[in-house]
Amino acid sequence: MGRQAFFSNALHTFAPLINQNNMESPSNRLLLSGNIDPLDLVQQFGCPLYVYDTAVMERQYRRMANAFSVKRLRINYAVKALSNINVIKLFRSLGSGLDTVSIQEVMLGLKAGFAPRDITFTPNCVSLDELLEAVELGVRINIDNISILEQFGQARPDVPVCIRINPHIMAGGNLKTSVGHIDSKFGISIHMIPMVHRVIEATGLRVEGIHMHTGSDILDPDVFVAGADVLLKYAGEFPDLDYVDFGSGFKVPYKPGDIETDIEELGEKISERFNEFCAEYGRDLEMVFEPGKFLVSAAGYFFVKVNVIKYTTSTVFAGVDSGLNHLLRPMFYNAYHHITNVSNPDAKPRFYAIVGYICETDTFGINRRISEIMEGDILCIHNAGAYGFVMSSNYNSRYRPAEVLIHEGKAHLVRRRETMEDILRNQIEVEI
Ligand SMILES: Cc1ncc(COP(=O)(O)O)c(C=O)c1O
Repeated sequence: MGRQAFFSNALHTFAPLINQNNMESPSNRLLLSGNIDPLDLVQQFGCPLYVYDTAVMERQYRRMANAFSVKRLRINYAVKALSNINVIKLFRSLGSGLDTVSIQEVMLGLKAGFAPRDITFTPNCVSLDELLEAVELGVRINIDNISILEQFGQARPDVPVCIRINPHIMAGGNLKTSVGHIDSKFGISIHMIPMVHRVIEATGLRVEGIHMHTGSDILDPDVFVAGADVLLKYAGEFPDLDYVDFGSGFKVPYKPGDIETDIEELGEKISERFNEFCAEYGRDLEMVFEPGKFLVSAAGYFFVKVNVIKYTTSTVFAGVDSGLNHLLRPMFYNAYHHITNVSNPDAKPRFYAIVGYICETDTFGINRRISEIMEGDILCIHNAGAYGFVMSSNYNSRYRPAEVLIHEGKAHLVRRRETMEDILRNQIEVEI
């Protein structure tokens, strides 16, 4: 099946993210849910500022929940994408489960009111101790290497587990997030499944789930389907399964015209295969996904202020009051984030490099056609919901930004901007 089968041209999908959810007015002015003007938010809460819109998250969740035609479906929101506790609570209210990768994410989920069994703990390279801690908290355990599986089986043969397999598939928009290939540190190689059976036999462990996650931003849907086929092939070898977890990796559009995973079409194909599998298996298993980006990427906006316009012989730079310390994706993954001028949306467009204030190359975007920018203008960096604030740091001893959540048309401050106290917290001064 061709690539087109699963991807739609995002001219139809990205634009509505701006026009329907954010209600960009005919003048290109950016308005958020509830007709909220981001310039008012910046005035009220300061700059730089992360803003998240729960209406977009809810729409994405419902889209996903409706895309699969199976008897039992669980969507586990991947907390790592955006871990503000209010966002976690929102997904609980929508009926979602939770995908967590650290004991701290597990604790956040519990604090947000999730029942332990609605949380899956899928860590990588953690100690047995951390897994045993998670067992004490009552959450589902997913194990991704033979050594720990064996140790876990000896310590807690009474606790059923999920196993993460590595299907040996190169997927993902970026090598850093491609995690299902043969040389990746993630998952148990499919060639080692016989060893898994030996561990199960020796320890008496019960395997209740089987899982894979091959990467983020998967461009080619055939890759996703190929991975699903591998997973189902090996799932048949485990007689006590209750669920099959297909991971995530759904691509979202990052700019007008960008492609996105056609979740509805992908849902149809995967559901068909899964239903066939369940019929053969003799039981209705639960189908599980653990999306992060798909649920929160487009719901987030990062607003920055232009400090300075600087000309070189080749480039016009707009230098802003933020940097890779606040949004790492452009520098870390070479990721594209659409950038617009919120203060002056209808001016004549010119070409700019948008750069940050950090003491090294620190670029949000180059050669961007943006409405003419003046010093003091507010720019919007779009798709800032996933892997934005969560990857931020205090590099250069800068404060991390505040976070605002728009819920039911009202803006709420959900994280205060840091202060010098935060920079010094936990530092211990000694006599020098
Ligand atoms: C195991 C696992 N599941 C789910 C996700 C979420 O992926 P995405 O944000 O692309 O949906 C990730 C991302 O790193 C992951 O490692």
